[in-house]
Amino acid sequence: MPLTIVDHPLVQHKLSVLRDRHTSVRDFRALCTEISMLMAFEAMRDLPLEEVVVETPITTAHVRRLAGKKLAVVAILRAGLIMADGILDLVPSARVGHVGLYRDEATLKPVRYFIKLPSDVAERDVFVLDPMLATGGSAVAALDLLAEHGVTAPRLLCILAAPEGVAAVQAAHPDVEIILAGLDDRLDERGYIVPGLGDAGDRIYGTR
Ligand code: PRP
Ligand code: URA
Repeated sequence: MPLTIVDHPLVQHKLSVLRDRHTSVRDFRALCTEISMLMAFEAMRDLPLEEVVVETPITTAHVRRLAGKKLAVVAILRAGLIMADGILDLVPSARVGHVGLYRDEATLKPVRYFIKLPSDVAERDVFVLDPMLATGGSAVAALDLLAEHGVTAPRLLCILAAPEGVAAVQAAHPDVEIILAGLDDRLDERGYIVPGLGDAGDRIYGTR
């Protein structure tokens, strides 16, 4: 599956502010939401349309509306929640799933603590959300879980990724399209993306 980097100037500008260590919690949160909304434009570019007829105040018009499968977004907690906010502004009828994972600081392995998915998730077009794709452990764990629930060909939206994380997802889930705002150089010895933007969850919620 292709890797898409959303290189729209608005996305790249907002990402540059997101990376800045001096950006406030309030602005960081708003920027994550805005970037996610803009990324969703790209990620949803191929959603199928069907022709329908509507009565305008003047006449009848042949118009196109979304067809095909209904949508679901699955946020990887905590940080993925902020992305769901932006995308739900665009597609308010999408259902929302939550997968609670945190990365153990010593092993860097994901630890699962919560799961709640729409009951019909297997019948939906699914967009998995997490701002950071570092080792890829969390994304692969979430995608494994969705596969166990019958989800096929979900899309993974991450604001920033390391090559290691992209490779891990592509190896474990070759059917998953990855959509990013930025692909960085590498991981450091603590598993942080370099140059990155730091700990996304802490910067969104003002923790630590
Ligand atoms: C961060 C991030 C991803 C994960 C990425 O979450 O939001 O979920 O790390 O790292 P990985 O690709 O190496 O798994 P974190 O575990 O810090 O939890 P949080 O969102 O609750 O802060
Ligand atoms: N999780 C984050 O929030 N940031 C990183 O750089 C790596 C993992």
